[in-house]
Amino acid sequence: LQAKMIVDKSFVISPIDKRIYGSFIEHLGRAVYGGVYEPDHPDSDEKGFRKDVMQLVRELQVPIIRYPGGNMVSAYNWEDGVGPLEERPRRLELAWRTIETNEVGTNEFVDWTRAVGAEVMMAVNLGTRGIDAARNLVEYTNHPGGTYYSDLRRKHGYEQPHKIKTWCLGNEMDGPWQIGHKTAEEYGRLAVETAKAMRLVDPDIQLVSCGSSNTGMPTFPEWEATTLSHTYDEVDFVSLHQYYGNRDNDPANYLALSLDMDHFIKTVASTCDYIKAKKRSKKTMYLSFDEWNVWYHSNDADTKIEPWSIAPPQLEDQYNFEDALLVGSMLMTFLKHADRVKMACLAQLVNVIAPIMTEKGGPAWKQTIFYPYMHASVYGRGVSLQPVVSSPKYDSKDFTDVPYLDSAVVYNEEEDTVTIFAVNRHLNEDMVLDSDLRSFDGYAVREHIVLENNAELKASNSAHNEQVKPHNQGQSKMDSGMLQSVLPKASWNVIRLY
Ligand code: AHR
Repeated sequence: LQAKMIVDKSFVISPIDKRIYGSFIEHLGRAVYGGVYEPDHPDSDEKGFRKDVMQLVRELQVPIIRYPGGNMVSAYNWEDGVGPLEERPRRLELAWRTIETNEVGTNEFVDWTRAVGAEVMMAVNLGTRGIDAARNLVEYTNHPGGTYYSDLRRKHGYEQPHKIKTWCLGNEMDGPWQIGHKTAEEYGRLAVETAKAMRLVDPDIQLVSCGSSNTGMPTFPEWEATTLSHTYDEVDFVSLHQYYGNRDNDPANYLALSLDMDHFIKTVASTCDYIKAKKRSKKTMYLSFDEWNVWYHSNDADTKIEPWSIAPPQLEDQYNFEDALLVGSMLMTFLKHADRVKMACLAQLVNVIAPIMTEKGGPAWKQTIFYPYMHASVYGRGVSLQPVVSSPKYDSKDFTDVPYLDSAVVYNEEEDTVTIFAVNRHLNEDMVLDSDLRSFDGYAVREHIVLENNAELKASNSAHNEQVKPHNQGQSKMDSGMLQSVLPKASWNVIRLY
């Protein structure tokens, strides 16, 4: 199997916004309680945060983390989660039908994100609540002082404002499962009025308007067109969400699903541009892909959860090797659209459909998907280049002309490095990739990292057995600007040049 690629440093798609490597923590399952926060764990700090988890989050260099939901935010009272612990109410959490103790809330989460080197993407409740609760929360978190809510924050021990810059106007409001689900008209009106009030409190914030929950929604993409016709001038982003699964155990088709994601991005970008044209606007709408991942392994287990328990193990997908390959392709899809996708959140970060898992009182460990996410986040900063690619192709159940080679190229001018990310989708054959990199005169191969598993697609990791992990013994050699690499069958590759 042979493929070719030409890479030129002047063929730039766009600078990469590092926020495409964001993630998400929802008050759901064991994400917060027993994941991020476990006060009686031997490795927790004085605030109750697990240090081993923080260390893994830092390894991922996560730049921004969405919070507190998700479906949960649509019935959340942010006031429940601030102030003296003993006064915080226990509530029925309706989205996931558990008990929310509110031991962790806005201030604790801000502390935690700072400690892991990330910023917060805060979501407001546009399900059961609206303009008033949202503008009060912005006043609480972002106003310096001298008013009711800013002084309340100071009274709660936070003298300085948190200056949270990025805000989601609700969550998946197109979904009938959402508490306070709305029609596109209803949401568009509420979102624009909420946006205006929030911006009056703090003009420096950036806002995300809810797009569709997935490409299968019957209202997609009319939802985007209608809601944006209201919100366009007041927001900076529209959101996209998408999860995939290999339910029919058809790996060739499964690995092609990033083509569906690519199509989703193009459709939303076109819909935004249609509204831009209708409005005679000069403003380009950016895309926030603020929930994406593989999610299906835990679906059956979740039907058996006892309602009204505290932090039960919900959405605990155990990821396998093929999931890591698709996650790699999804990350490359963002790089290919770096001109429009400026934020994205791997959903989620700890225990709940997550790259990081924990055991109560025990270790934290890395799922298979941890690795492509880490590689992209750490090595995928700079500008995204547009390679010219020639690859053999295949047809699968739902896709035609799927290139066996999936690739993206990042040039980091500051560090003088080039990184080629590549998946070989062929399940049985290694691929020889010839890359013409003559515009990067004098560059040499620094390392070729490979996540391969001898095509054992279903292998997964656990707390005490890491079957799937990368090595850096990949075969790549560079001679006078011509790079030749071997991409093993079914593999994720990171070829780093300098
Ligand atoms: O990430 C899990 C859930 O998926 C989120 O709560 C919701 O927004 C989406 O449907």
